Amino acid sequence: MTGAWEWSYEGYEPDEERLREALCTLGNGYFATRGAASETSTGGPHYPGTYMAGCYDRLISTVQGRKVENADLVNLPNWLPLRYRIRPVGADPGPWLSPDHEHLKEHRQTLDLRRGTLNRRTVYEDGAGRRLDVEQCSLVHMGTPHLAALRTAFTADGWTGSIEVEAAIDGDIRNTGVPRYRDLSNRHLTAWSTGTEQDGVVWLRCRTVESDIGFALASRVATSGGPGRSPEGSGRHSRPRQTPRQVFQTLVLPVDAERDAVVDKTVALYTSRDRAIGSPLRAAVAGVRTAPDFAELLASHCRAWAGLWDRARIEVPGEAGRILRLHLFHVLQTLSPHTAELDVGVPARGLHGEAYRGHVFWDELFVLRFLSLHFPEVSRGLLDYRYRRLPAACRAAQQAGRAGAMFPWQSADDGREETQELHLNPRSGRWLPDRSRLQHHVGSAVAYNVWQYCQATADTDYLHSKGAEMLLQIARFWASGADWDASLARYRIRGVVGPDEYHDAYPGAGSAGIDDNAYTNVTAAWVLARATELYRDLPEPRRRTLLERSGLDPAELERWEDISRRLYVPYHRGVISQFAGYGELDELDWAAYRKRYGDIRRLDRILEAEGDTVNRYQASKQADVLMLGYLFSPGELGGLFQRLGHVLDDETWRATVDHYLARTSHGSTLSSLVHAWVLARVHREEAWTYCEEALTGDVVDIQGGTTAEGIHLGAMAGTLDFVQRGMTGLETRDDALWLSPAPLPQLSKFGVRIRFRGLGDVDLGIRARRLRIAVPHSHHPAVRLVLGGHTHVIAPGTERWLDLPTGRRSDRRHGKGRQG
Ligand code: BGC
Repeated sequence: MTGAWEWSYEGYEPDEERLREALCTLGNGYFATRGAASETSTGGPHYPGTYMAGCYDRLISTVQGRKVENADLVNLPNWLPLRYRIRPVGADPGPWLSPDHEHLKEHRQTLDLRRGTLNRRTVYEDGAGRRLDVEQCSLVHMGTPHLAALRTAFTADGWTGSIEVEAAIDGDIRNTGVPRYRDLSNRHLTAWSTGTEQDGVVWLRCRTVESDIGFALASRVATSGGPGRSPEGSGRHSRPRQTPRQVFQTLVLPVDAERDAVVDKTVALYTSRDRAIGSPLRAAVAGVRTAPDFAELLASHCRAWAGLWDRARIEVPGEAGRILRLHLFHVLQTLSPHTAELDVGVPARGLHGEAYRGHVFWDELFVLRFLSLHFPEVSRGLLDYRYRRLPAACRAAQQAGRAGAMFPWQSADDGREETQELHLNPRSGRWLPDRSRLQHHVGSAVAYNVWQYCQATADTDYLHSKGAEMLLQIARFWASGADWDASLARYRIRGVVGPDEYHDAYPGAGSAGIDDNAYTNVTAAWVLARATELYRDLPEPRRRTLLERSGLDPAELERWEDISRRLYVPYHRGVISQFAGYGELDELDWAAYRKRYGDIRRLDRILEAEGDTVNRYQASKQADVLMLGYLFSPGELGGLFQRLGHVLDDETWRATVDHYLARTSHGSTLSSLVHAWVLARVHREEAWTYCEEALTGDVVDIQGGTTAEGIHLGAMAGTLDFVQRGMTGLETRDDALWLSPAPLPQLSKFGVRIRFRGLGDVDLGIRARRLRIAVPHSHHPAVRLVLGGHTHVIAPGTERWLDLPTGRRSDRRHGKGRQG
């Protein structure tokens, strides 16, 4: 029976092992390690990987005669290895055991979400009936982010003798986790050295090849009391063994019917980027030496997790609730309060694998709104990652002949564009031009995140300093790329790629990109409007500083205002067009393709392999126009369209939703999430189908093999936000909480705890069409809550139950909203 706080796998399935490793990753926002078995090493079903947030290295590879440079999130030395074999009295030592060995009889692994541990029980039995029961508990410490530990307990049954245990740190590591990247250079570590201290602590240090980051890992192995029968006090340590890239510690522990053997491995990990440490090696050796024993480490680790669970409480009954908890677990392991201290962005695939090389895309759009309502300091740290790269974004814009800031589609260490020039279609085996770097809409995502963070936290200081600088430079970029078209009497932004990456050029066109992507233009209009408004609201000294820093001419703002009202939004047959000319593209025979191929999520690859191109068709990889319904409430979106001179009524929006729903292949996990959100807001039953798909995307690996290479962090955080904001219609603006609940019948009862404008632990819950809000005791002013057009004032230390408005309220409608 699996509990609400557990994620378990019964039996050993080599084919599923890499997926399980990704989903059983343990991390703390500083580093993370895939949930590989400690007895295994890279190869076949196993890929133990350890990744440190923000640690990249770049190498040059030759692909099809071209030199390409790639920055990778580096797979670090492996601290996990711990293998064992039995040494029965009067017999030869048995083989080294692992789940792949034929002696395996039982295997169960469980992620304990509440405590943040991975627990495994493995039972082996040899031909002579000698059984060995192994229980292992591992943790990556959430309180002291440099520590990890592994407790392994052995019970012998039917024999007497000893267990030989070999623990290691393995520095002979490459980035080989993604088969598609096999042609690329992968050796990121160099300058290894290993050593042994007199007290038995062993260590390994090395550096990255190009980014020159130093790493040191130290390990201590001890026998200790554990659960079960009488534990063995001390085993026999043999001298540690070193090779240039590995270091080993060996122990021999007596076991018999009365005695269990327990081995604890404690590891400390430091980098040359850590502050106040002297040297990584000194810090690692001291860290492991002074670390408390396993029981104490486990207790402090659990306490740290309890604090996180409390701040981000989410209560949803049933299986959906269990999956959501798993999602929250992985979001917090990737982006924890420790992250706020680092210079890192949101890695699209977590710290869970090597897909997309650990790069940062626009996916923070799906993550920050969730985080800002629980861990605003983490959101701020993630925004700072962008701010530090604002000069690089300004240089990129300049090189492209534009003004302002052009943030890269893929970002890693120094903020340059990391999107590859070529990508491989595994179906055809062909390397093709990758034009996804034309997704300049990533800049609007940065601006949107800045704005929303400040709305949720009331961090005016940020908004008026770093926030304003980013917003203004992004607005400036849009203004510099908007050309006036007299025939349309509209501004146009040409040569871009929208969120739907399938359309990267017009069929047969010599140049890359499409024109007037509705999502790009509407979000650009939003940025320009916000930036203009913000500039005008800035206190005078701030405005002066900003003008000095950015070289902005206040006269530019008049043009911004004009562009924000007259950007072109194309339509065809009564629906918003994804881009200009979209309506003239061919219709795809979806039924025929589904019949022929079954899974057509990666329609782009299918068509290219057929010698065709998806650019010819009205077929999208993921939500594009509909993203507007995800970012903006109906009222806000209506206001934005009104500002652009259009009436976006319910009918047009519904027709637009229908149009794209029928023409999207959901080749990105973000797609089902956005569809669930948009459909729930227009009260459509299919919303639950998409929600289920978003919930199960990673746990059943819906995209066919991709989760093994890293979780989809945006979709995971997005599902949490789906409950928190999608179901409640929660908006944080004008100093109030605005709620417009639209719960699905399948999610009609839930509770979330949020932090709003400096006030923590505000509980919101929905049950039986009633809303509960509880505001904790504090010195904060009362919370203003707007529900169904009525404002309620909830004093600190009180709770209220409010009836949900019946029917469809006018504040849900498009076209009637406030000005965007
Ligand atoms: C999606 C992008 C996303 C990226 C990283 C791609 O498949 O199309 O929207 O940013 O994955 O998650």
